[in-house]
Amino acid sequence: MNNKINLLIAVILFISASQIRGQEWIAPADKASVSNPSEYNLANVKKGKEIYQKNCKSCHGDAGKYNALPLVPVPPDVASEIMHSNTEGGLFHKITAGKGGMPQFETTLSEDDRWRLVNYIMNYNPNVEPVLVEAPPVKAKIMASVNEVNKQVEVFAEFDNNGTFEKLADAEVIVSAKKTFGNLVIGKALTDENGRALFTIPESHIGDEEGYVKLVVALGEGYEVAALDLKSAKVGKLKEIPKLIKGGEILWSTNENIQPWLLFSYLGAVGGAWLAIGYIIFLIFRIRKYSKL
Ligand code: HEC
Repeated sequence: MNNKINLLIAVILFISASQIRGQEWIAPADKASVSNPSEYNLANVKKGKEIYQKNCKSCHGDAGKYNALPLVPVPPDVASEIMHSNTEGGLFHKITAGKGGMPQFETTLSEDDRWRLVNYIMNYNPNVEPVLVEAPPVKAKIMASVNEVNKQVEVFAEFDNNGTFEKLADAEVIVSAKKTFGNLVIGKALTDENGRALFTIPESHIGDEEGYVKLVVALGEGYEVAALDLKSAKVGKLKEIPKLIKGGEILWSTNENIQPWLLFSYLGAVGGAWLAIGYIIFLIFRIRKYSKL
């Protein structure tokens, strides 16, 4: 009897201890032994990287930078030992099935794409020749101006070639609109051999009530340069003030737009409240007066 209780306690302790430690995740042997049907080449690794940036980076961080989200357990870095203690079949299984904080991708990513992710992770395996070598970012400079008539942004980009700035050709330029919460990408353009890129703001882009848009110009991946904030330019479609009520009036916002019935009921309610307060004060004075008698 005593033995049974001891065993029970031991089992409970073991289960809770492994829960706290966060059990090591081991893929089943039959899944771990599956070999990768997708070829390990630059095209697949690059595609895998794209899929990774969209679906995984938010939690796992950048490969080799160990900047994952602080979840429990921490999502392992793509270049980490934990990641590479898996076989390719094991990686595929874990990406497919998920566990705890790691979502399953069986229903959101095709099988091909999940294998491409495995190829991308394998690019950082110490025993595998990397095909995708990320060069350190190149220092760059950007200058930009806006033509409100043509609704065009003209960008010039230069890169630091060992101390001298030279024209940066074939670089991706990203034009965004600054919004209250982050930037909204409007579009992209490539620089020509003069380091120049011309981007036309689409007619459909909506600015503020007067058509102003706060533009931000940045370079694509691989360049070290701060995004350039341009001053507001009148290049967007006018934003329409939402009409909640017919007749062009809106419910609130400014005094000119206010509905007469709303203004009067507001003033009525406020006036009524003040009258009531005044009456109460009057009564208090009356109490004092009578109490002195
Ligand atoms: C919502 C956050 C989140 C996202 C998004 C996410 N992961 Fe994870 N991932 C985790 C966490 C947390 C773990 C650790 C799970 C554990 O060990 O219990 C993990 C574990 C893993 C593992 C297993 C590592 C090991 O222990 O062997 C692999 C492989 C993996 N993730 C790949 C990916 C890939 C590829 C993607 C994108 C398709 C992705 N993850 C997206 C959070 C995430």
